[in-house]
Amino acid sequence: MKTLTENGLTAAALARLGRTPNPRMKQIMTALIRHLHGFVRETGLTPAEWKTGIEFLTAVGHITDDKRQEFILLSDTLGVSAMVDLVRHRRLEHGTDSSLLGPFYRDGAPEQPLGASIAGNTPGEAIVLRGQVTDAHGRPLADALLDVWQAAPNGRYEIQDEHQAGMNLRGRFRTNADGRYEFRSVKPKSYPVPDDGPVGMLLRAQGRHPYRPAHIHFIVTADGYEPLITALYIAGDSYIESDAVFGAKQWLTVGYHKSRAAKGKGERAPDAIEFDFALAAAAETPRSRRPRPARSARPAARSRQRRAISGNIYSNI
Ligand SMILES: [Fe+2]
Repeated sequence: MKTLTENGLTAAALARLGRTPNPRMKQIMTALIRHLHGFVRETGLTPAEWKTGIEFLTAVGHITDDKRQEFILLSDTLGVSAMVDLVRHRRLEHGTDSSLLGPFYRDGAPEQPLGASIAGNTPGEAIVLRGQVTDAHGRPLADALLDVWQAAPNGRYEIQDEHQAGMNLRGRFRTNADGRYEFRSVKPKSYPVPDDGPVGMLLRAQGRHPYRPAHIHFIVTADGYEPLITALYIAGDSYIESDAVFGAKQWLTVGYHKSRAAKGKGERAPDAIEFDFALAAAAETPRSRRPRPARSARPAARSRQRRAISGNIYSNI
């Protein structure tokens, strides 16, 4: 047998993929091996550094359980999740920008009537959120489902905080016949991602802070449309330009408005967030083959979003 060179080793590892029956898996594994081998060659990775990396990934696995997903956190803080999201945009019709799912989503939040609050007795400054769900052309979508979740003003999601009731600050709402939604909550605050584990150690080793700007998460779904995983970010937050997980986007940044619903003397109505979500048609065909919306129709969908690119990360949701 012949001794493998650096390049010969890569070729040999790629050749082992020759019988992979799934073509997409073969494509992904081919690229992965090429990049991993190239990474080792480029950095001149030493055995000790390789061992440190293995121990780090082992620690990421050990701290992960049904309530803490350190691998998603690692992906998020490395910008990989945001990159997957951007690449996903390539194939979708225009709609509202997407953002990261994050590690704190829980399925099964209670469905509530329009106008209800997801905040229970959570201390904080009350807000109302309202707007419309439309297709990419600005046509209202009735019976669209908004799955909403956020951290409490203390910076903790209910699954991190024994003082919050189960499913606190989580809720699902269906749009009315006009595609409109409305619900109440409390103002979110910026918070650090969990930094007491291996990912936190990595952030500190890089001189990085762990904070995310204040935000409220949404998954918006409707039959025949791509699920939209997104979040609204509060303008003026100290971390809006340096989100630890690269999720904040300009066109998802919102400010608080005085509520249109006037109340009695001396009682101030809660500040409001108004935002319309535009959903992209289900990606059954490549975008290039779908008819583009007429120019005259597009500004309607963009009236509040100001721009339109859509997508989602996890198509199985
Ligand atoms: Fe979050």
